[in-house]
Amino acid sequence: MKSSATEPLVIETFLTPEDQALDEEFLRQGYVVRDVDQPDVLDGIRHGVVEIACELLGIDLPKDDGEFLNSIHTRVTVQKLNEFRVAIYNELNSRSWFRPSYFALGKSTLESLVGNELAMQNRINLSIQTPHDESSVLEIHSDTFDSETPFQVVQWLPLVDVYETKSMFLLPPEDNQKAFRTLRRRLEEGGPVRLFQEVQDRLVWLRVPYGKVLVFTPNLLHGNTVNRVPETRWSFNGRFKGLFTPYGGPAKHLGSYYLPITTRTVSRVGMAYRPPEGFNG
Ligand SMILES: [Fe+2]
Repeated sequence: MKSSATEPLVIETFLTPEDQALDEEFLRQGYVVRDVDQPDVLDGIRHGVVEIACELLGIDLPKDDGEFLNSIHTRVTVQKLNEFRVAIYNELNSRSWFRPSYFALGKSTLESLVGNELAMQNRINLSIQTPHDESSVLEIHSDTFDSETPFQVVQWLPLVDVYETKSMFLLPPEDNQKAFRTLRRRLEEGGPVRLFQEVQDRLVWLRVPYGKVLVFTPNLLHGNTVNRVPETRWSFNGRFKGLFTPYGGPAKHLGSYYLPITTRTVSRVGMAYRPPEGFNG
């Protein structure tokens, strides 16, 4: 803003300084970590998860939700883990408040980075990664390899503090650009294991304390390894994109995989408009 005795007050940029700072950080790192917009809602979601888990296990509610989730590996075996996870995932996704509440946690960051007219993935995924479990490793990949649109971000939300191998890794944009140049050859020669070894030194392990949300571009190489921290990771992830930006492969379309969540009135008016006969040209 500029103002003086001779000049009127003017605004020189369309984006606010806060939006510009967020853009710069996201472009440089490929991700941002921010406080959730509504901590009470996060606590409520986490407590809902604990209630469902306790009901499945037939036990009383714990005194400390975070401690209970961090140590779930003392109550659920690796063999039973997926069945347990899917039961919680299905129960949460059947509740009408779950997706709106999930969106509310990252709303200000998503609206700044992606836009205010959004499409959201139809279901929110849940990951539970217990210590030393080799079965829930997600090998290094870019989501675009699986016909996902590059016009999206992932909102990734831990229910416990995550760090080091209890978290996920991301290859920063500059290193990712280099890795993409020889990616095909690397994958053909040695698969994702070889690719991981090649870029291992450059990976960033994302530190996300409970109460914060991670928003990242899944175009960058990312994944996780065996969790060597003696605590269990619980995290949600869901995709967001601009409603009118391009969609990915046939299985990733609007209306099934993605659903509109914040369509603005004038877009509805425009989509409903029918010209009078003879005015089609
Ligand atoms: Fe991914």
